[in-house]
Amino acid sequence: MSRIPFEQLPADVRQAVVDKTGAVHAARTARGGMNSGIASVLETDSGSVFVKGIRADHPQVGAQRREAAIAPHLPASCPRLYWHLELDGWSLLGYEVVDGRHADYTPGSPDLSLVEAALTELQGVTAPADIEIKDAVRRWAEYAPPGTSHFFGGDALLHTDFAPDNVLIVCGRARLVDWAWPTRGAAWIDPGALALRLMEAGHPVAAAVAFAGRFPSWREAEPEALAAFGAATAALWREIGTGDRTPWKRALLEQAATLARALDGSL
Ligand SMILES: Nc1ncnc2c1ncn2[C@@H]1O[C@H](COP(=O)(O)OP(=O)(O)OP(=O)(O)O)[C@@H](O)[C@H]1O
Ligand SMILES: [Mg+2]
Repeated sequence: MSRIPFEQLPADVRQAVVDKTGAVHAARTARGGMNSGIASVLETDSGSVFVKGIRADHPQVGAQRREAAIAPHLPASCPRLYWHLELDGWSLLGYEVVDGRHADYTPGSPDLSLVEAALTELQGVTAPADIEIKDAVRRWAEYAPPGTSHFFGGDALLHTDFAPDNVLIVCGRARLVDWAWPTRGAAWIDPGALALRLMEAGHPVAAAVAFAGRFPSWREAEPEALAAFGAATAALWREIGTGDRTPWKRALLEQAATLARALDGSL
């Protein structure tokens, strides 16, 4: 997507930010991600702030509102949300800056144990009951084989989007950003989602599945549940990748199909 610099926001929107932060002295656009029409680190009178914004008529504005709602419930590995503004056609979130780099998921990367630690922390968090977030059973129902969607149910808080540009590495720690898809469901879903991204980064399927097995939720899951996850993930990426020539989507389509075969024992 095209991302505009902070300076190109409407004047009243920039003023509303200044009302929160004090004067803005510098703005640097962040790399990574797709939907945010603006993603900038600002240097302000009150310190640094990461501002992520989407136009109010964008189809993903609901995701931005979910991200704001879940923020107070996130564990320490996630940056703090300072404020949420909606005006003049924009929805903006102001976050604590994580001055890091995107995680390196390649085999042997020292970042992998940091990602494991952050996900281990998240695995212990129960989804809050009093806010509206996605439910895993409903989210995967149209992709899971008939009669298997109940396996996805649970009360864990799930991130579900482990693209490496949603994991920032700083000071020997992995921080999970981009909570656009917070979901309530079975805890093993996040290790499974991470496994697919490890394959994308070059891990053989057996190594990716073994990494998921570092998490007790995955080890304790019923094999039928993991097979259903594999089939649903493959179906989802078939939908995204079929007829789309974007290389990373084509690759994920193939990798998800391989993961499905590994999880149903047919590989
Ligand atoms: N708190 C933060 N501090 C510094 N940089 C950040 C922070 N959060 C995110 N970023 C950077 O900004 C990029 C985009 O942010 P994010 O992933 O939240 O949005 P996005 O992917 O555009 O959103 P969407 O999920 O709606 O497509 C990230 O890949 C990361 O490089
Ligand atoms: Mg992102």
